[in-house]
Amino acid sequence: MFITLEGIEGSGKTSQVNNMAAFLEDRGRVCLLTREPGGTKIGRRIRQVLLDPESRDLDPVAELLLYNADRVQHVRKIILPAIAAGKVVVCDRYVDATRAYQGVARNLDIELVETLHRLLVADLKPDLTFLLDLPPEEGLARAWAQINSGGRSDRETRFEKETLSFHTSVRKGYLSLAAQEPDRFVIIDARASIEGVWKQIAAVLEKAFGASPD
Ligand code: TYD
Repeated sequence: MFITLEGIEGSGKTSQVNNMAAFLEDRGRVCLLTREPGGTKIGRRIRQVLLDPESRDLDPVAELLLYNADRVQHVRKIILPAIAAGKVVVCDRYVDATRAYQGVARNLDIELVETLHRLLVADLKPDLTFLLDLPPEEGLARAWAQINSGGRSDRETRFEKETLSFHTSVRKGYLSLAAQEPDRFVIIDARASIEGVWKQIAAVLEKAFGASPD
């Protein structure tokens, strides 16, 4: 099984990943927690290029290809072997981020985005995607509070430095993806506290994996 978390900056995905692992392990599932970009050793080097504010000159198509390079490495070396071994893969961001950030917010050809995904990773699709949704003003304020308190590296702020209208487009992109695939996406109200967000996610996981351990 393959589960992804998506959302704009500061939507609090990372805090939920550990809760999800504990929940699944309680139910006897072996989990693999991972993320994009940077789910592999080579991917972490690609991540530095993508997120460093010094990369401001990066061409949007080059950016798209770097996210895809990271994903090919990640899917082939980590995700597919884990799925084949029967693990539940929980991934912090995946192709819906490419659709929303590069396809919608960077305004690249969405057919190019889809074709790359189909050709490079055989269209590998999550079974379930949580979209942690909140207004970009709130998300960016949270993200900058974390960065300014030293909780996150200021070497990874290229996207946080994008305009509010960029992040508004990302959010719209995500919401329209969720509307197109309502069976795969679950929209979570991420304005809630960490506990409030977890309650919403846990309710969905209980339906899929059972309410309590055997
Ligand atoms: P990260 O620090 O992991 O963000 P967060 O903690 O909010 O998940 O940085 C990942 C950044 O990369 C984030 O700003 C979104 C962007 N991104 C894309 O633009 N396209 C993609 O395909 C992926 C996976 C991420």
